[in-house]
Amino acid sequence: MVTLLIGANGQLGSELQQAFGDDGLVPLGHADLEVAEAAQVREAFARYRPDLILNTAAYHRVDECEDEPERAFAVNAIAVRNLVQAAGEIGATLVHFSTDYVFDGRQGRPYQEVDPPAPLNVYATSKLAGEYFVRATLERHFVIRTCGLYGLVGSRGKGGNFVETMLRLAREGREIRVVGDQVLTPTSAKDLAKKVRQLAETGQYGLYHITNSGECSWYQFAAAIFELAGMRPRLVETTSAALGARANRPAYSVLDNANLRSLGLDDLRHWRDALEDYLSDRKQITKEA
Ligand SMILES: NC(=O)c1ccc[n+]([C@@H]2O[C@H](COP(=O)([O-])OP(=O)(O)OC[C@H]3O[C@@H](n4cnc5c(N)ncnc54)[C@H](OP(=O)(O)O)[C@@H]3O)[C@@H](O)[C@H]2O)c1
Repeated sequence: MVTLLIGANGQLGSELQQAFGDDGLVPLGHADLEVAEAAQVREAFARYRPDLILNTAAYHRVDECEDEPERAFAVNAIAVRNLVQAAGEIGATLVHFSTDYVFDGRQGRPYQEVDPPAPLNVYATSKLAGEYFVRATLERHFVIRTCGLYGLVGSRGKGGNFVETMLRLAREGREIRVVGDQVLTPTSAKDLAKKVRQLAETGQYGLYHITNSGECSWYQFAAAIFELAGMRPRLVETTSAALGARANRPAYSVLDNANLRSLGLDDLRHWRDALEDYLSDRKQITKEA
């Protein structure tokens, strides 16, 4: 069994490498494969003949996407079409990752897979288009929506992750302003990667929400990071309007792992427990370095 991992050195890609192990895994970085180039995708699939493809590649600097819609659609939608077409030709299964941002956040309760998406920004619209290419073209697929990812290597596209940014700002002694009017479920890339492996092994293709459990605002998440790390920076709750980001974001994008639950696989731990584990893992790494 050959598994091709696209975006292997990214935040989620690194955790998928751990979860899937070395046996039969072909890790490809951006330098090895540009997913927006259809010919390169076909060539890579012909060379490695994967049974399973894990695609973590994305253009996901959300505010930047507002000014770069062509690039957002090239990487998050058209490139995904390249992948599904090439996967279909060799009979491979594709695991593709999407986002909680496909929802507008006005529902007021956790979103299930059956709830209609209504993206508020370019990034989310391009990711939704990517989802549709997968679901319309390739039967053997897993489209996985997740939320607020953090992993040990940090997001390459975003230049780090929220936890590391908070810890750095606290070390710098700066006042830290974080929005309290966007509610989500922060999700450990390590927990997600393990669950992806379990899910892929079921062969139950389809659309899945996968996040840790519970919910919080970004402000509450920041407060928990500092509490668990034993730090007391000046943390101030602010609003999305006051921050004035270019892209609109959903006020409430908590996902309900309903389809995972129906398979008896929704045992992801609470986000706070996952955060505690992350902080202990990173401490261990810092000690070893
Ligand atoms: N981060 C989050 O909070 C979050 C939330 C919800 C959903 N997601 C989704 O989860 C997935 C993984 O996110 P992540 O945080 O792990 O991202 P990441 O750290 O930025 O990793 C993405 C990887 O894909 C590579 N890549 C980017 N553009 C590419 C292209 N055109 N061709 C080939 N490779 C390319 C990147 O390489 P380079 O860096 O070298 O370009 C990087 O290795 C994405 O689909 C994202 O939309 C993320």
